[in-house]
Amino acid sequence: MSIVLKTPEDIAKMRTAGQLAAEVLRMIQPHIKEGATTEELDRICHDYIVHEQKAIPAPLNYKGFPRSICTSVNHVVCHGIPGRKRLKRGDIMNIDITVIKDGYHGDTSQMFCIGEPAIIAQRVCRIAYECLCIGIREVRPGARLGDIGHAIQNHAEANNLSVVREYCGHGIGRAFHEDPQILHYGKPGTGVELHPGMTFTIEPMVNAGKRFTKLLPDGWTVVTKDRSLSAQWEHTVLVTDTGVEVLTAQPEETF
Ligand code: MF3
Ligand code: CO
Ligand code: CO
Repeated sequence: MSIVLKTPEDIAKMRTAGQLAAEVLRMIQPHIKEGATTEELDRICHDYIVHEQKAIPAPLNYKGFPRSICTSVNHVVCHGIPGRKRLKRGDIMNIDITVIKDGYHGDTSQMFCIGEPAIIAQRVCRIAYECLCIGIREVRPGARLGDIGHAIQNHAEANNLSVVREYCGHGIGRAFHEDPQILHYGKPGTGVELHPGMTFTIEPMVNAGKRFTKLLPDGWTVVTKDRSLSAQWEHTVLVTDTGVEVLTAQPEETF
């Protein structure tokens, strides 16, 4: 267990990687529509990352993952494998992008709506985003990881939604998944203390039903056990001297 504190040189490269990952999410947006397959979206992202950004799609061959992005539709919680399934009106989908540039990782994901999903589907997407933002607002030197987890859990459960516990955020840098683990539930004032130079992801998975998950036989796809809808948003963040910098922020986002 060792947390890597990033130097100013590391941070500059993390910023670049983070912004490339965010750019892929903007690029793919107009391609997400009824009738598109998730493997078409994967190919577009793959080609863009490799040929335009001259970067590496981190998921490809990571522990045997067969594609360059994760696409998690409706009751899929995370790690959905792009395939021949076509998007239909009313679906909600998470796209998770991780790129490696100059040796450093940037990791971000967001929800997309196809057509106009049911109110409950829109609601789980919105509350999951609020959970991410509420978690980010806890990040500052001297805060503890339990403060982040508690804030997220509290917001989800206050809205009658549940937080997935089997998967979590993670330190990130030269490695995809570094220490520490960032749980999206917990108790205030507990856990690792935050220090300037730490970089990690916050990526809450929020379910409309119960929190329990099941791994499909493909060894990757995680679904809700009760088949309820699930939503996830992710950013890579840096602990600064005064608070937080969101390395994968979109231009219009404020935290
Ligand atoms: N990007 C995911 C995360 O947020 C990890 C995907 S691992 C993969 O940590 F192998 F499924 F791509
Ligand atoms: Co991540
Ligand atoms: Co990710």
